[in-house]
Amino acid sequence: MNAMTQDNLRSAFGGESMAHMRYRIWGEKANKEGFPTVARLFLATSDAEEVHATLHFNAMKDIKGDYAVTSMAGFGLTSTSENLQGAIDGEVFEYTQMYPAYIAVAEMQEEKAAVRAMKYAIEAEKVHAELFGIAKEAVDKGNDLEAKDILLCPICGYISLTGEEDNCPLCNAKKELFIAY
Ligand SMILES: [Fe+2]
Ligand SMILES: [Fe+2]
Repeated sequence: MNAMTQDNLRSAFGGESMAHMRYRIWGEKANKEGFPTVARLFLATSDAEEVHATLHFNAMKDIKGDYAVTSMAGFGLTSTSENLQGAIDGEVFEYTQMYPAYIAVAEMQEEKAAVRAMKYAIEAEKVHAELFGIAKEAVDKGNDLEAKDILLCPICGYISLTGEEDNCPLCNAKKELFIAY
């Protein structure tokens, strides 16, 4: 694998890994503040970021050893409203800045596995940002998010609040595979 694509995949792995943990922490905070459905959204999205980190890791299956990894990592444990804004900002950075640049390099270098992993991620991050936005609107009015089951596609990290989809709209995985939170 070309060095630049390797670097980018490792950085994306780092960013996704840290988002995975950050959302678990912010989910606990949402529960404490009395927003259990926002907490479930954080948990489902935490697991979506684990899906992305795993895709990136697997795309680098032939690369061994330890590397210093440079990644964006948001910090701050404040109110759930502010945490949701932090989540939105992170997702928007990923789909407007990070992944478009990384995908362009991977396409130029004809790194097909890397392109596939990062294209799943970029499309899912757009959905994550939108859903965190809906959650923030509710929380800013003092309400919890409204949703029955929050569904995660374990193949690509897509999340649904309604369950209205037949198959995954991003990767076409069968709906029976979706995990409910
Ligand atoms: Fe995300
Ligand atoms: Fe999917």
